[in-house]
Amino acid sequence: GLPARVTIHEVGPRDGLQNEKTTVPTPVKAEFVHRLAAAGLTTVEATSFVHPSWVPQLADAEELYPLLGDLPGVRLPVLVPNEKGLERAVELGVRSIAVFGSATETFARRNLNRTVDESLAMFEPVVSRAKADGIRVRGYLSMCFGDPWEGPVPLEQVVRVARRLRDLGCDELSLGDTIGTATPGHVRALLDRLGEEGVPDSVLAVHFHDTYGQALANTLAALEHGVTTVDASAGGLGGCPYARSATGNLATEDLVWMLHGLGIETGVDLGLLAATSLWMAEKLGRPSPSRTVRALSPK
Ligand code: HMG
Ligand code: MG
Repeated sequence: GLPARVTIHEVGPRDGLQNEKTTVPTPVKAEFVHRLAAAGLTTVEATSFVHPSWVPQLADAEELYPLLGDLPGVRLPVLVPNEKGLERAVELGVRSIAVFGSATETFARRNLNRTVDESLAMFEPVVSRAKADGIRVRGYLSMCFGDPWEGPVPLEQVVRVARRLRDLGCDELSLGDTIGTATPGHVRALLDRLGEEGVPDSVLAVHFHDTYGQALANTLAALEHGVTTVDASAGGLGGCPYARSATGNLATEDLVWMLHGLGIETGVDLGLLAATSLWMAEKLGRPSPSRTVRALSPK
């Protein structure tokens, strides 16, 4: 059966804005996060503490994070690839981080300048230090289904890295369909294999990009399987600058429309959320790719 409630992990300010050509002014980013929280999102991934020249769009993390303030009941996770990133985040009082690994060698190399095993070794002290400080740690796993350079990704390859991330101590694993090639049968097969290998749905989140229009169907397959945390990006912004052919994430509005239609609680006010995405689309100078945002926009 389906869950009564789903936790939405909003990634718009991070996955969405990291891929925009125009750099959004820091106060606009802060307002974006505040409006998402006001719309009822309880997890809003705020920014990344990565090398500023690798992702210049998020190079203002030090300026942005203090502007966010303390939002009661709202987690503001940030991406952290290494100890340098963790130091920067801890300095600002960050309480929730995400490391980000890859199931494929090509993407690990392109995104982190490391092999898969070298990147896990880079994460190891990050996760252990963070956990010792009581910081919550999510582990992203990219290229869980298809890789633009390597093609379809074998289940066993994904399972191996997922288990390693769990063994490091990640509280939650987010399965990334970075380039959006997954289909529902593939999602079920991966979740089945992970369950057999001791990585149950209860520690998983799903992270679908909508490149091939499969994100909602894939989400439904994951929910039916037992996953209850779903990543999405307001307005369907997003992509990864280091993954050829990655486009926007599953739009949070499209997700909320489906979940509410199924009678599943999210705590999100869809009107406030869509208004936020329309406002952001105006700032970015292009219409939101979300079908639901377009349908709800004033004519
Ligand atoms: P590197 O060049 O190997 O770094 O990059 P290094 O460890 O050799 O260090 C070189 C210099 O960078 C040093 O400075 C470090 O201090 C500095 P120097 O001593 O030469 O003066 N440095 C840093 N400075 C600030 N903050 C840091 C940092 N780290 C090192 N954190 C590195 C390795 C990991 C840093 C680089 O590859 C990087 O920043 N990559 C980030 C790429 C990224 O953010 N990609 C997008 C997010 S992933 C994604 O979108 C997928 C996801 O959505 C899920 C999905 O869809 O699948 C999550
Ligand atoms: Mg992503």
